[in-house]
Amino acid sequence: MNALLPDRSATEFTWVRDVAEIAVEAGSQLRRFFEAGVATEYKGEVDLVTIADRTVEAYLRRALMDRFPTHGVFGEEGTRDRLDAEFRWYVDPLDGTTNFAHGFPHFCVSLGLEKQSPEQRAPEMPANEDGPIVAAVIYDPMREELFVAEAGKGAWRNGQRMAVSATPHLAESLVATGFPSRKRHSNPNIHFYHEFTLRSHGVRRAGSAALDLAYVASARLEAFWEFHLNPWDTAAGYLLVEEAGGCVSTFDGAPRRLDSREVLASNGHIHAELLETFERLFSGRDLDPIASPAAYAARHRAAQIESREA
Ligand code: IPD
Ligand code: CA
Ligand code: CA
Repeated sequence: MNALLPDRSATEFTWVRDVAEIAVEAGSQLRRFFEAGVATEYKGEVDLVTIADRTVEAYLRRALMDRFPTHGVFGEEGTRDRLDAEFRWYVDPLDGTTNFAHGFPHFCVSLGLEKQSPEQRAPEMPANEDGPIVAAVIYDPMREELFVAEAGKGAWRNGQRMAVSATPHLAESLVATGFPSRKRHSNPNIHFYHEFTLRSHGVRRAGSAALDLAYVASARLEAFWEFHLNPWDTAAGYLLVEEAGGCVSTFDGAPRRLDSREVLASNGHIHAELLETFERLFSGRDLDPIASPAAYAARHRAAQIESREA
């Protein structure tokens, strides 16, 4: 466990050591469920949930309550404890459920801690005003990778300090995105996927937004964007990216918020270029048409006929 964290002489954390232990235990539970195989249920048309999501959220709720009895917990599977507390954990017990349910070994536990300012709780303040995210822990139990950060104390992967990549241009970047499992038909992201595929080294869609953000922080990706995320997907990842020197905003460059559904994270160097690309795409300028399957089939048939006649 300690091997996964920086040496105490490198940095003294306030919450991360305790929470890392909790996340690693949660990850071990996920791994055991994954190896045993679990039945899948539907939360929505294609929104999956398993006993692993529920059991691990129940474990995290208890473990966080035991260790931090005054903190609140806001979990994807329904936990809503002490939401007026000064500190609030955003908990995704299993980010990457669809991967998990299909035996695709890419998923994690994600825990982000928000410090709600006392003003935030004053009745006249907007209910959605954020406090700062002060701690983040993401654990990938299949690769045994632990990503942690605390505000002002840097971001770390398995004890090594992380820094975002230095790549200066989108054209030399590897980027990532994701697609929501709800309301897929009304999501425009396939057009963005297409455009960024043409403008970069490639786009990955690995199926865990929290790991996508952790990978931006660890320079494995230059950028990540997604429409329609939730704070349990992003709270921890936001802090990892920012503490690693990167940048997170909405698609129009506004500061990211915990309830921002649109998320654009990058190494910072390519952020202006990404924002400009989003602006152009939203206004319908410079769109490269997606080749239609029918046009491809017609071309293919014509080529076959030509080769037969040759
Ligand atoms: C999902 C994953 C996925 C993203 C979806 C999320 P879940 O979270 O992060 O990568 O594309 O939007 O809902 O449901 O596996 O916790
Ligand atoms: Ca999630
Ligand atoms: Ca989840």
